[in-house]
Amino acid sequence: MSKGLPCEKEKFLDAVRASYVFDYLTSGIIVTNECLYCTVVNKSIGTIFNLDVSTLVGSPVQEVLRKLAPEFETMIKEINSGGMLSDYELAVNISKEIKYLLINVRQILNEDNIFIGLAVTMRDITTLKLRQEQDRVIDRLTAMSQLASCLAHEVRNPLTSVKGFLQLASLKENYVFDRNIIRLMLDDLMSVEAMITEFLQATRPSQGKIALCDLNRLVYKTVLLMEAYARENNVVIKTEFKKGPLVELDEGSIRQVLINLIKNAIEACPNQGGEVTVSTDYDNSSARIGVEDNGQGMSKEVLDNIGKAYFTTKENGTGLGLVVCWNIITQHKGVMSVHSTPSKGTIFNVNLPLGG
Ligand SMILES: Nc1ncnc2c1ncn2[C@@H]1O[C@H](COP(=O)(O)OP(=O)(O)O)[C@@H](O)[C@H]1O
Ligand SMILES: [Mg+2]
Repeated sequence: MSKGLPCEKEKFLDAVRASYVFDYLTSGIIVTNECLYCTVVNKSIGTIFNLDVSTLVGSPVQEVLRKLAPEFETMIKEINSGGMLSDYELAVNISKEIKYLLINVRQILNEDNIFIGLAVTMRDITTLKLRQEQDRVIDRLTAMSQLASCLAHEVRNPLTSVKGFLQLASLKENYVFDRNIIRLMLDDLMSVEAMITEFLQATRPSQGKIALCDLNRLVYKTVLLMEAYARENNVVIKTEFKKGPLVELDEGSIRQVLINLIKNAIEACPNQGGEVTVSTDYDNSSARIGVEDNGQGMSKEVLDNIGKAYFTTKENGTGLGLVVCWNIITQHKGVMSVHSTPSKGTIFNVNLPLGG
């Protein structure tokens, strides 16, 4: 083999090697010749757009882009007018799924500065975008829950002093006939106080500490916390507890799961006659928590989508409640399943291994 300039065969092999390398890059790449006909369409383009790329090589780039997504029309105009694009972000709808792409279009010039083709690169930044958005929502929720716990603290202080004064008043001769009323007032104040204490515990960030826990007690306390919300929505919460052993879990996280499931159950209930049943059950190796409602239930489409970040059917929903639940349950090596019948109701079952 001669050493000087590469012969035609070597040039050809270089080109084959180059296109082979393109298939190993995670970004989608399209290269054209000077007439804007595609010479390379790498495998990642196929992965991003869910199609077979083999038929695309040899076609004009405009035609290929149009085939990939209608959203590329602006980009095609830019290419036709000889423009370039730098880190252009675009959302495209691919098989009913939104993907976010970071696009660059560059002209390829030879050593004499003559235009010999275009290079289009597309990076799928969907996961990155969703993570950023999720972080933003979580930051907002954290800020809101911090504000709410400050407020709860502020309410608790005057409450304690009113309670003290009422207790004092009940001991005085002048109020002897009003003692029953004072007792009722004290009872109500005490239940408000208990609710605030529970709320403060629930909003405190979880320490991630796994410890043996009385699950029935945890469920009972969380139900107490959710009672005001249930009442506001005309829903009755019932409980059915079986006796069982202590379970190894992170109390703060499992409380969060229960709050999310009970809140969803309450929100699914009809305006009248809503009922939510929270139950526990145990076998040799696991504990089960059930949250059942007689609400609207879920269609197949909703069932297919629940647990995907931001999927919500509610006007003010975040679509993050179930994502958080599934994450926590997975961290506990547990399983969460759901059965739902439209117009009848839904049951979420959480199974936790007894040994954590
Ligand atoms: N118990 C339930 N009954 C009916 N639909 C439910 C129930 N729980 C969850 N869903 C559906 O799952 C979606 C996602 O729930 P979630 O992740 O908690 O977010 P959000 O409550 O903010 O919408 C809800 O919008 C609702 O459509
Ligand atoms: Mg929810």
